[in-house]
Amino acid sequence: MKVLFVASEAYPFIKTGGLGDVVYALPKALRKLGIDVRVIIPKYSSIPLSLKNCMETIATFKVKVGWRNQYCGLEYLTYDDVPYYFIDNEYYFKRPQTYGYYDDGERFSYFSKAILESIKYMGDFTPDIIHCNDWQCGIIPVLLKANYSKDAKFNKIKSIFTIHNLKSQGIFPREILNELLNLDETYFNEDALKFYDSVSFMKGGIVFSDAVTTVSNTYAREIQTPFYGEGLGGLLSLKAEKLYGIVNGIDYELYNPKLDKKIFCEYDSQSIKQKVKNKLKFQEELCFTVNEDIPMIGIVTSLVKQKGIDLIIDKLEELLSLDIQIVLLGNGDDYYEDIFQFYASRYPSRISTNIVFDDKLAQQIYAASDMFLMPSLSEPCGIEHLIALKYGSIPIIHETGGLKDTILFYSKYTGNGNGFSFNNYKSEELLDAVNRALDLYKDKASWNKLIRNAMLSNNSWENSAKNYMNLYSKILKK
Ligand code: GLC
Repeated sequence: MKVLFVASEAYPFIKTGGLGDVVYALPKALRKLGIDVRVIIPKYSSIPLSLKNCMETIATFKVKVGWRNQYCGLEYLTYDDVPYYFIDNEYYFKRPQTYGYYDDGERFSYFSKAILESIKYMGDFTPDIIHCNDWQCGIIPVLLKANYSKDAKFNKIKSIFTIHNLKSQGIFPREILNELLNLDETYFNEDALKFYDSVSFMKGGIVFSDAVTTVSNTYAREIQTPFYGEGLGGLLSLKAEKLYGIVNGIDYELYNPKLDKKIFCEYDSQSIKQKVKNKLKFQEELCFTVNEDIPMIGIVTSLVKQKGIDLIIDKLEELLSLDIQIVLLGNGDDYYEDIFQFYASRYPSRISTNIVFDDKLAQQIYAASDMFLMPSLSEPCGIEHLIALKYGSIPIIHETGGLKDTILFYSKYTGNGNGFSFNNYKSEELLDAVNRALDLYKDKASWNKLIRNAMLSNNSWENSAKNYMNLYSKILKK
């Protein structure tokens, strides 16, 4: 089975969020199952030079974008045993940022067209499936059906479209159809790309692909409702038959407290006593009271509404009146950043606010903290809580999306469960969940059992990759 995995980012080349992690780890896991998966992304100028130097050009050709013929270089390298292709065009991809330009619609129209053309230059690798991710790739299934259905090399290729977050949809003016995509007006139709007065790339992926997946079962149900559906809930419920939820995993070679050189003291589920050394050292560094019995809550997040920051802020004063320590890492909206900075200056021995994105500090927080707060308003899957589990920092979550599917509340009586959760998106419920965690923390035997459960939770990519493989086989049989 041959699969071309298409995305707008992939670690370690370029990563702005969870998508980058998935595009690194899932193809690697699929290859271990014997599938010939290859990844293709744009060749952004910000890809590290050491990686760019390893790329070889395998073809150059032209891509038609509206009335223009644009250059395309197809480059190639293998990384961690996975073959990667890159679409090279400096006009579109030599820019300081990855996304957020006035012409993103044009950039990813070009990208989509270039992907399909590049298949002609991949030698004997003709994919059985093109696996597209998020709106940047949503037009690929549309163009595949519109322009290639009579071509013998292409007409058996199936497409899968994965939604990582329905919030960004790639919505552009109607003119894009004709001016950039060379598609006629029949595509400006409720059953095709029309989204109110505009064109939606996300809708294109949903309507024209052979199967749609999203990154957890709960999110697959949620996005069929008006609240989470972002204007596409009705369409998604109509398409429910081809909509699948497959939860993401994490890469235990990247995230493992036994192998992590960034933390103070390595440990695993057999040596959880060592974990506390990370907290003691961290308390010292942060100028907090050094005492292993004070519970430490970690928060590693973007400071945006979707992450449930409003709930935390609503109860921050109360939380800081308890005998606990909070360490926050993340950046985002100025409004949230300012509030956390304010609390850090007011309660310097209780809360440390770090408005940066810093990998090393993130790992130290996972290793040092006892609890990990992640009350997202919506969370298609989420990765931070899965890392926290592996590091024995107990997640406290709002029951939504992937959080709900991977965290089971701990019961002292059965000894089952790996975290704490609350159902209604209300700050009182968040506070109540934190208090439940703090209560259990005093009972050392139960708490240690909970840490072991958390660390032994299996969220490896292996299971998810098997589910994708089954889905691939299913759509190829159709
Ligand atoms: C998006 C989602 C996040 C998910 C990630 C990878 O960033 O917001 O929940 O984990 O994609 O699928």
